[in-house]
Amino acid sequence: MTPSLLQIGRLAPELEAELAATFPVHLLAKEADVPAFLERHGSTFNGAVTSARVGMDATLIDALPNLKVVSSFGVGYELLDVDALKRRGIVASNTPDVLNDCVADVAFGLVIDAARGMSAADRFVRRGDWLNGAFPLQTQVARKRLGILGLGRIGQAIARRSSGFEMDVRYHSRNPVQDVPWQHEPSLTALAEWCDFLVVAVAGGPSTRHLVSADVLAALGPKGFLINIARGTVVDEAALVTALTDKRLGGAGLDVFEFEPRVPQALMTLDNVVLLPHIASGTFETRKAMGDLVISNLKHYFADGQLQTPIA
Ligand code: DGY
Repeated sequence: MTPSLLQIGRLAPELEAELAATFPVHLLAKEADVPAFLERHGSTFNGAVTSARVGMDATLIDALPNLKVVSSFGVGYELLDVDALKRRGIVASNTPDVLNDCVADVAFGLVIDAARGMSAADRFVRRGDWLNGAFPLQTQVARKRLGILGLGRIGQAIARRSSGFEMDVRYHSRNPVQDVPWQHEPSLTALAEWCDFLVVAVAGGPSTRHLVSADVLAALGPKGFLINIARGTVVDEAALVTALTDKRLGGAGLDVFEFEPRVPQALMTLDNVVLLPHIASGTFETRKAMGDLVISNLKHYFADGQLQTPIA
């Protein structure tokens, strides 16, 4: 099969250049009238490239009658309509594993920053407040309790990082994970009651929406910290804003938001929350490895019909 690819949204310039040097590819994002373009040319594409940020909905999938393969940049794929793809027998890949370390590093960075108030202390110095007195005491990380929601590859990388901090680790997931040294907690609320830091590392999508509810935040309590490097939708963001504002939660470190890139205005003025613009996988090395995987999945597919990292 001769490849003919449709690129749905923009990617990093280096990846776009490499993609275009490897395959015939058309960038849909540049079309002013997308429906008219698809009506006229939709049948010419047998492959598509998208990303975790952009995804692909059923309307777009239906507009590509000869689509056979989708290669998506990023590990999350809740914006990709997998059911619509399956109905048509279209296969899809994502870019797992290569980002585990980078995402786990940011999760741990957020644990330390939220507990020790490092970003707030930086603002304190820049404002010149140090001249008027010392920065308030904060919370220790070493030997505290780390709770992880979702013990997939990223959750396990986070758990491994905790050993240098001599932390006690437990996790909650739908089913216990085999052959890991950490204790499974059958209820998320019980995990939140037990831990000092609750790190969200579960996939997004309808099945995990608002798993971290007002009740879970109440169980975490005024000394507890919530860290989210997964998807904003997993947390009831309105409940989180209220808990942080009322100091019913110790603090939070957030790389993702429910309606990103929009961040609730109320969080902007709070010092008990660290806000990051979804950067967990954002290093030169990791983004290059993700891009390489997008391309090698397509090369494999067009060579022998097999994807390297298929979405199950
Ligand atoms: C991912 O790969 O899913 C990251 O969150 C970037 O979107």
